[in-house]
Amino acid sequence: MPTATIASLLVLVSPELVATRQYLLNLMPAQTKPLMESVGYSLGVSGKMVRPAMALLTAKALQETRFSHQAPLADEMEAVLPEKSIALSAVAEMIHLATLLHDDVLDDADLRRGQATTRFQFGNKLSILSGDWLLARASQTLAEIGNLRIVRIFSDVLAYLCDGEALQNEAAYSLEATTWDYYNRKTFGKTASLFAATMESVGVLHGCDEPVVQALRQYGESFGVAFQLIDDLLDYTQSSETLGKPALSDLKQGLANAPILLALESDSLSLAERTALKGSIEALFQLCNPALAEETTDVLSRQEALCVAIQTAVLKANAVEDTQKLADTYLQQAEKSLAVLPEHPAKEVLKALLAFNQTRQT
Ligand code: IPE
Ligand code: IPE
Ligand code: MG
Ligand code: MG
Repeated sequence: MPTATIASLLVLVSPELVATRQYLLNLMPAQTKPLMESVGYSLGVSGKMVRPAMALLTAKALQETRFSHQAPLADEMEAVLPEKSIALSAVAEMIHLATLLHDDVLDDADLRRGQATTRFQFGNKLSILSGDWLLARASQTLAEIGNLRIVRIFSDVLAYLCDGEALQNEAAYSLEATTWDYYNRKTFGKTASLFAATMESVGVLHGCDEPVVQALRQYGESFGVAFQLIDDLLDYTQSSETLGKPALSDLKQGLANAPILLALESDSLSLAERTALKGSIEALFQLCNPALAEETTDVLSRQEALCVAIQTAVLKANAVEDTQKLADTYLQQAEKSLAVLPEHPAKEVLKALLAFNQTRQT
């Protein structure tokens, strides 16, 4: 399903999404300091807004039904809930964007959301500082929302995000360090933890019972694991133009993600083919590791040849389909978690968001 479809999927919360986008654009003081230029550039192009959309849909269902699993609210609280929900959805996007600004430095990436990355345009230092600035603004917004448990949930997320990226960095260029246990922990840390926190916080903000809060958290976490699995799969199947970010780039960063782990276990390859695949990955990691390699033309063309050989083996191993199947199991878990929500059109869109995640190409 192309990105255009996500917009049509989200009409139910389009005024709230517009408000979230405006909230983000209003963050910046009217200054022309280099940091503000860099932040302005980063905020200038919107992503898919999946995390805010998820938060706003859930908030809408809870706000409009106020079902029996929600504590009664004082009138003053009821009146401010819509604006707090928008602030919360903006926090999720601020933290997400901050992680992208940091991630693009770690990954040396030049393309993001179809335009030059902030780090390409303004340099690594301003990309990192812009990310830090967004995290600071997210903390201020959390203080304004004024719920200590929600502050705690997002503080934990900041630690998980760092753990996830640090784990990835530690295991980079080492096939030996790339176990399923490592992959699952880094996927939770760098991606699923933010989806989980966003959904948990919406439940807390709306006074839901603990089992409902936990089910919402579980929806976010399962959705987030599937989201990263699909992201890792798209790296092998889509072009940079479609993705709006570099394609076939994880391998060059020394990352053997789910498609590689599954290819190395696949019965669709002979033992000799699996051994050759392992050898190609190790050779590529050796050539791409900045600690070991030089970037001569010869090295670059050998890297390209190895990447193509590895991609061909991944496709032959049906590892793309297997990654998709693995993602589907998480999406099914997420759908089960939704059962706690009362019937509401927004609940149907949360289900449709699972289908979007399953079939997305960007
Ligand atoms: C990209 O996230 C990074 C991952 C967690 C896989 P998105 O795919 O949500 O990026 P944008 O916000 O739409 O650009
Ligand atoms: C997800 O990892 C990034 C974060 C959660 C920060 P990736 O490195 O796969 O994200 P992309 O592919 O660059 O968007
Ligand atoms: Mg990246
Ligand atoms: Mg990726």
